[in-house]
Amino acid sequence: MKKWNKGVRITPPTYSDAVEEKLQQLKKDGVRLPSRHLLRTDEQLAGIRESAKINTALLDYINANIREGMSTAEIDHMVYAFTTDHDAIPADFLYEGYPKSVCVSINDVVCHGIPNTKEILCNGDIVNVDVSTIYKGYFSDASRTYLIGEVSPDKQRLVQVAKECRDIGIATAQPWTRLGDIGAAIQEHAEKNGYSVVREFCGHGVGIKFHEEPDVMHYGKKGTGMMIVPGMTFTIEPMINMGKRDIFIDEEDEWTVCTEDGLPSAQWESMILITENGNEILTE
Ligand code: MF3
Ligand code: CO
Repeated sequence: MKKWNKGVRITPPTYSDAVEEKLQQLKKDGVRLPSRHLLRTDEQLAGIRESAKINTALLDYINANIREGMSTAEIDHMVYAFTTDHDAIPADFLYEGYPKSVCVSINDVVCHGIPNTKEILCNGDIVNVDVSTIYKGYFSDASRTYLIGEVSPDKQRLVQVAKECRDIGIATAQPWTRLGDIGAAIQEHAEKNGYSVVREFCGHGVGIKFHEEPDVMHYGKKGTGMMIVPGMTFTIEPMINMGKRDIFIDEEDEWTVCTEDGLPSAQWESMILITENGNEILTE
């Protein structure tokens, strides 16, 4: 029986000589590289994959059960029950004092909506459900935006483009390119469609902790930022606004983030692993 803290590296990740050579050369060139603890070992990856599987099954379960007339508190109960039934823990619960097991963000709520019994899903709503799972100490994270009943074409298009932004971000996240490439590609697609990108929240390293280095911006410039290296696991989770990008945080609960102009916002989040020849989607 092995006994050690999950976060402590015993065996460093082993890469092909080509990868090691490349890392050494880039280091000499002064390129910003992720610290070694952000490159996952095979053992860590096995745990992260198990966690990710539960997280994806949970979003499928929500997909099958979410409906008009339901309160956001009912979604919270589903998330808690499903996660604990799988011997896992919702990572949101009590994270920095967050009171519930899931974030449910409706229409003009950008993110971090707190479930409650008074908030009811209505026909025409777009609802982001953001779930995060801890399994055997390993973290996973993803979100989807669900359509409730008959949603107006303009809101449907927002949800669709937000998903495309996430997918373009994933396609751009290739080894030996830069984090700024991801942001630039997402920003271009959002703005080309007449939408804006929220800048105050970003994707993040995830796996050994909930929110790790690096920050993954959803806007920015090609060829800038940290080098993307095989072994990294991080999220891409653009929040796309129909109107202006400005947001505010609810003063009372200090969590709920809303658009300043009251127009809707949509989000899709995936967690990916950078591999030697591309990437692998871990959650969606
Ligand atoms: N799940 C969010 C993310 O995508 C984080 C939510 S933190 C919480 O990173 F405390 F609000 F739950
Ligand atoms: Co996240």
